[in-house]
Amino acid sequence: MTLDTRLLHPTLACEVLGLALWQRQPEQTIAELRALFARHGVVVFRRQALSEAELSEFCGLLGTVERTVRSDWASPTMPEVTVLSNLKDGLGRPIGGLGDGELQWHSDQSYMLEPATGAALYALELPPAGGETFWVDLRAAYAALPRQLRNAVNGKRGIFDYARRLAGYGRESDQKISEEAARQTPPVTHALVRAHPETGERSLYLDSTTTTGIDYMDTTSGLALLDQVYASVTRDEFVYAHEWQVGDLVLWDNGFTMHRRTAFDPGARRLMKRMTMRLDKYCHVLPDGRLAQSEVGMPI
Ligand code: OGA
Ligand code: MN
Repeated sequence: MTLDTRLLHPTLACEVLGLALWQRQPEQTIAELRALFARHGVVVFRRQALSEAELSEFCGLLGTVERTVRSDWASPTMPEVTVLSNLKDGLGRPIGGLGDGELQWHSDQSYMLEPATGAALYALELPPAGGETFWVDLRAAYAALPRQLRNAVNGKRGIFDYARRLAGYGRESDQKISEEAARQTPPVTHALVRAHPETGERSLYLDSTTTTGIDYMDTTSGLALLDQVYASVTRDEFVYAHEWQVGDLVLWDNGFTMHRRTAFDPGARRLMKRMTMRLDKYCHVLPDGRLAQSEVGMPI
């Protein structure tokens, strides 16, 4: 290993020191970064200064950069870059998504049939307080799940519905999506437990903002089981709390993590740029989406 790294959490996050990500990286470095990302799931780089093109190029080393269905949050000059901000332009229109509100534990793209699970968030402007982001390791959380809960979720599929997530957003502009985006986001199901393709290690796939139940369970029992699971997995010991500094770039794997963000003062400024990458199925655990069946004709 030639990379200079520092563990930030016993199982999850690690920091890579001394890289200038706007520069071209040697093959050896890229290979080590890919391995580190696959192993830790959250990788932090500090004090970066990246154009959108440089950000996109770097992220493209870790997966295939994708545009998301939120074309309304896309950078005007580089549509694969998503802008997340509470700021408005000179005409009072939001310049990006997600505003200043709290975001509860979620996994990006869980509402897609085939989620692109790689993500990167780059901090350009930060509020003096709040707007903190936390990640939870759903491998460690699965390993520590009480046996009875583990048995209850094994073999089960969660139902994930973007409509539920949208209803939880604080701003009307974030709640509304285009007809095209709605067409691309029908309710889907994903197995709640997945095994890593290389290590076989099991992890949970969850999203507390988007799940509406469990396939083949009545809604009330499904939601009750999910609530129990969410309470068990979000214990502090599985969580990495990131203290943002301007210039931070954080990569994460949504295949075995969830993240959340605290709210911040609407009068403060926060500006982040966000990338989405499709990850390699041989190195990363991926969800196995299916279209949710309609209720009609389902066994009771
Ligand atoms: C995201 C996200 C949290 C934040 O980029 O998917 O949830 O801190 N962001 O803005
Ligand atoms: Mn997110």
